[in-house]
Amino acid sequence: MTAKRRILVTSALPYANGPLHLGHMVETIQTDIWVRFQKLRGHECIYVCADDTHGTPIMLRAQSEGITPEALIARVALEHKADLDAFHIDFDNYHSTHSEENRELTYRAYEALERGGHIERRMVRQAYDEQAQMFLPDRFVKGTCPRCNAANQNGDSCESCGATYSTSDLIDPVSVVSGTTPVERESEHLFFKLANFETMLRDWTRSGTLQQSVTNKLDEWFAAGLKDWDISRDAPYFGFEIPGAPGKYFYVWLDAPVGYMASFLNLCRQHGWGFEAWWKPGSPTELYHFIGKDILYFHSLFWPAVLHGAGFRTPDGIFVHGFLTINGEKMSKSRGTFITASSWREHLPTEPLRYFFASRLGSGLDDLDLGLDDFVNKINSDIVGKLVNIASRCAGFLARSFDNRLAIKLPEPELYDEFLHKLSGIAEAYEAREYAAAMRDIMALADKANLYIDQHKPWLLAKNPDRAAEVHGVCTQAINLFRVLILMLKPVLPELATRAEAFLGGNELAWDDVQRPLMGSKINTYEPLATRIDAAAVKALVAANQQAEPSSTKAPAITGSKTAPNPSAQATDGEATIDDFTKLDLRIARIINAELVDGADKLLKLTVDLGTELGTRTIFAGIRSAYEPAQLINRLTLVFANLKPRKMRFGMSEGMVLAAGSDATDGGNAKDKQIFILSPDSGALPGMKVK
Ligand code: MSP
Ligand code: ZN
Repeated sequence: MTAKRRILVTSALPYANGPLHLGHMVETIQTDIWVRFQKLRGHECIYVCADDTHGTPIMLRAQSEGITPEALIARVALEHKADLDAFHIDFDNYHSTHSEENRELTYRAYEALERGGHIERRMVRQAYDEQAQMFLPDRFVKGTCPRCNAANQNGDSCESCGATYSTSDLIDPVSVVSGTTPVERESEHLFFKLANFETMLRDWTRSGTLQQSVTNKLDEWFAAGLKDWDISRDAPYFGFEIPGAPGKYFYVWLDAPVGYMASFLNLCRQHGWGFEAWWKPGSPTELYHFIGKDILYFHSLFWPAVLHGAGFRTPDGIFVHGFLTINGEKMSKSRGTFITASSWREHLPTEPLRYFFASRLGSGLDDLDLGLDDFVNKINSDIVGKLVNIASRCAGFLARSFDNRLAIKLPEPELYDEFLHKLSGIAEAYEAREYAAAMRDIMALADKANLYIDQHKPWLLAKNPDRAAEVHGVCTQAINLFRVLILMLKPVLPELATRAEAFLGGNELAWDDVQRPLMGSKINTYEPLATRIDAAAVKALVAANQQAEPSSTKAPAITGSKTAPNPSAQATDGEATIDDFTKLDLRIARIINAELVDGADKLLKLTVDLGTELGTRTIFAGIRSAYEPAQLINRLTLVFANLKPRKMRFGMSEGMVLAAGSDATDGGNAKDKQIFILSPDSGALPGMKVK
């Protein structure tokens, strides 16, 4: 056994402005498997994380819900924690970036950087919303692309042609916060001089254990030149005020990675452990960050430079994974594949997803796909059909004829040794995060164990009382092979392993325990260790994540994506209950674009902004007779947001705009029909719920 290592591990801190989804679970599951593996091998491995609570989106989200940011992040922390627990993510600590420990460490780091001459102040011009009285981050300004004229593009880049530009180049810029036209304003910002760290970063890149594609990416960034990093934001901002700079706040990405340290500091204070020994330069402890490929720049350039500049150690590795797709495509709300962690656990068990992700994860940055049919097949075949089957096929014989006592000798010790010989390769695969390879090897062994049972047919032997000893031997052999497999899968399937350990007689398996097989000891009566996944449950999950069907209720007159009367939306006689009403997700929306629709003279194609949670949608509305497109742009209105999307001849319509109108008693003469789009009072923000 190698010397005991001391390892500190993190997953990226999820933003506190929304629920966790399966993409987040890829990362925490990948990390948790690695941590459990290290602990199983007897190393000291500490896993910390936290919610990332600062920044403009969280501030605005709280505003739109009418609560304080503190109340929002407290609620979301509970939701996140419940999800992470349900997926058996075994943190040693889960903290918050809005904490005293984080404030303390952020100040400490910043003050050291300032003393070291790594902070510079200079004026910047930035988009400012005079109505909301705030500076606007790039993604809160939209407008027409200066290069290709595509409408409704973000303030920094065009999704249509890929151009990048500065917000001031946008044509007809609009503030997403208030809908007004932003002005330019000057303000003093603080910059971190990243270029001061180029030599150090190049050394760090070369000496570390970075993935090849990460090193390549870094080389590209070095070649492009390291730019100063703007680390301040003006009030109003939810975050930490910068010492010596009243009204200026640390940009969320400065204090977020410090949140890793803060979570660890909080843990140290709970246990009276020494924090500094882990963070001083040259510390013999190891430090690894698991992250997705979208946040590499922050972790491979800014973060090590900040650590170094502030007098702390740097990470030993950044472990970068790719993105999750579902059924081969980006997760999508309209396809029902934007699956939250909480809805998954309402419909399905969580451990099988750990196994499935493990079977798809390598050490690289490739994206991985959760094909929902593949998932059902894989779990039913590997976990139920192969793994658990070994125990369930043999347990009955041991219970019936041998009082659950194992034989005292293995009939085929070579086969057992063959399993043991695979252990080191499996350990190497876990260590290198080549989980898919490990799962493949483990399942090949499970096949071998099943083949062994098939060949010896204990069910036939058991018919002949003279061959009882053979039955005993075969079942003992199989149960011991099963035990090795359980050990191998323990980082991935911790709960199943606990149940299996109870079945095998109660001892918690450590890595080296399987060197000696269980001989002559008593096991316990077999209880099912895993059940088949029902394809219907997966269907229900997708349906639940799709925008719900409208219920029949007396809603206000609705115009929208209907070209033909839609019976389910007709008002019925009688009353509606409050439950009927709350099924409707009615939201304030801003119409950010309106266009005529070729070949449909009653329709307008609207692009509406439903706030940060729901984003933008396309809606075809039958309001052409009452409005010119230009009149509508920038107007606030109400949208029925969870109406099931409808495929129309012209494209998908993803909701309905609410309007009042006279009934169509005019024989279909649409010109005379009056239509009035509903609007909220001023001050309402896109995304606010009607309740
Ligand atoms: N708050 C920052 C991280 C700060 S770390 C100091 C952040 N938060 S996030 O909630 O957007 O993402 C958290 C992690 O989840 C990131 O590592 C991100 O790459 C990962 N993922 C988010 N969506 C994902 C997929 N669809 N697939 C896989 N990982 C994904 O970024
Ligand atoms: Zn463009």
